[in-house]
Amino acid sequence: MILSRPFCVVVAVTCMLLLAGCASVYTPNHVASVTANQQLLLQPELASGYKEREGWTHRRFAVAAANPLATDAGYQILRAGGSAVDAVIAVQMVLTLVEPQSSGIGGGAFLLHHDGKQTVAYDGRETAPMAVTENLFLGADGKPMPFIDGLVGGRAVGTPGTVRMLELAHAKHGRLPWSKLFEQAIALAESGFPVSYRLHTLLKADQYLKKDPVAAAYFYTPQGEAWPVGHVLKNLELAAVLKAIAKDKSNALHAGDVAQAIVDKVQKHPTNPGKLTLSDLAAYQPKTRSAFCTDYTAVTQTTYVICGMPPPSSGALAVAQILGITPAMTRQNSLEKGLPTAAWLHQYTEASRLTFADRGLYLADPDFVEAPGGDWKSLVNPQYLARRALAIGEQSMKRAMPGDPAPVKTSHAPMPDQIEYGTSHISIVDAQGNAVAMTTTIEAAFGSRLMVKGFLLNNELTDFSFAPKGANGKPIANRVEPGKRPRSSMSPTLVFDKASGNLVSSVGSPGGALIIHYTAKALYGMLNWGMSPQEAINLPNFASINGPTLLEKERFPAATLDALRAKDHEIRELDMTSGLQAIKWQRGQLQGGADPRREGVVMGE
Ligand code: GLY
Repeated sequence: MILSRPFCVVVAVTCMLLLAGCASVYTPNHVASVTANQQLLLQPELASGYKEREGWTHRRFAVAAANPLATDAGYQILRAGGSAVDAVIAVQMVLTLVEPQSSGIGGGAFLLHHDGKQTVAYDGRETAPMAVTENLFLGADGKPMPFIDGLVGGRAVGTPGTVRMLELAHAKHGRLPWSKLFEQAIALAESGFPVSYRLHTLLKADQYLKKDPVAAAYFYTPQGEAWPVGHVLKNLELAAVLKAIAKDKSNALHAGDVAQAIVDKVQKHPTNPGKLTLSDLAAYQPKTRSAFCTDYTAVTQTTYVICGMPPPSSGALAVAQILGITPAMTRQNSLEKGLPTAAWLHQYTEASRLTFADRGLYLADPDFVEAPGGDWKSLVNPQYLARRALAIGEQSMKRAMPGDPAPVKTSHAPMPDQIEYGTSHISIVDAQGNAVAMTTTIEAAFGSRLMVKGFLLNNELTDFSFAPKGANGKPIANRVEPGKRPRSSMSPTLVFDKASGNLVSSVGSPGGALIIHYTAKALYGMLNWGMSPQEAINLPNFASINGPTLLEKERFPAATLDALRAKDHEIRELDMTSGLQAIKWQRGQLQGGADPRREGVVMGE
């Protein structure tokens, strides 16, 4: 084992105290005008406190992840000479155990890798089972069923892709033996880990997880209470599955008794069975894709190359559209007392409305849907973005219509607004200069709420449009189809200096559709406002998904809200629980930042 037990215990206890401390700084203050449903639509991930961080500085390597025990697993691998990909595998296996609400071996992920020369995107997105139809989420009346009815149970479980994708990435970029990367997660699962404040908070709030008897027995006391903060939770079933994967790689999950247990759980769900089969699991293939890279000239006149995940994620395209439409402004011109001004927020949120309108019409799995003009780059063409920017006036447009970047083969209907959930982000730079940005998900908090052999199954199929057609009868690009990957917002991002080709940053966040905004905010802060990763992450959150202007509550002065209202913005203040992790090269040092709104930390040397 790489990590000594005493060290592990010290880390765990320290973290427990740190996280318990979050409770004292969070003051709930829900906005009366937002209904419960709107709150859920706009803010699907529960807040669990805000704890100021100062950021971290390292020289040789660094890893940033959403839970201190997971970060530590990556750190131990990097110390042992492992690569960034080795480290991310170790982090993911520990996250499956300690942050089960957000990601795990039952879900999907996107991984961006840079080896000093080339940037490659690995797609481990879940796929729809071959037996589904586009009517998967329609009720008996032919209308989209209530979101939660589609989510809980077997119906929305897609074929998991994370482990197969990591196996592919390890074959190309791994340095340590595959089995070694599982040692820390197995040891923690066997010895137990302390329930964190955030896990406890989410368990306490969840109404559906305890309906699965297996999940209820693991996550709750016999009286049905969420295990308290600090309770040491052991997961021997997960340890056994991780041992099998350590030995037989992804086949231990995609075939044999684990696969059979997954299929039984999905197909035999008493009220909401799904269509996943053994052949879906056996046939799953991760994909290697070209990273989606765009040039971005910051206010300093430095040009960066910003690379992200191409479709089926909408992340990189949307971030590039928002940054391309929002003017690049200096800190002096756009911040007042360290906060974005109303004038700048107007520009940003209008750019976001235009972006989300395009996203709703065009974005879907590229193996099923043709890009406008046959190339997704048409959506970020500078001439097209300049034309789109002309729509921004003095007053808010409130709701933008999609643009027309290039001719389309099939004309689609815009996808209606729909809830999007969770995830977890990991950024790593290793001692050899390789970099990873990986965002990983089981979709909703605790996924489909189905537990099999110590891990949770995803509900990723709810990232498809529930409605297969629009009101005009045209098909929706992101409708359910057999074998298709649902559209994602995940935005793992690597930034390079265009002139030198050197890595500048690895960044990303969880947060449903708001992932795009959290990532854009961090990029804007680091590249235009000269901020460290931590300063950029600490900035208050802001967004529009082509509706109201969303502002992180209690972070903006009343004068800013008034000035935006005077420009006809409908304002919603709410928790905006980003979980940004970022690493940035600055003056020969690796600066790291982790979101004060969650539990993440950065470690390195
Ligand atoms: N399930 C979150 C996303 O893929 O965007």
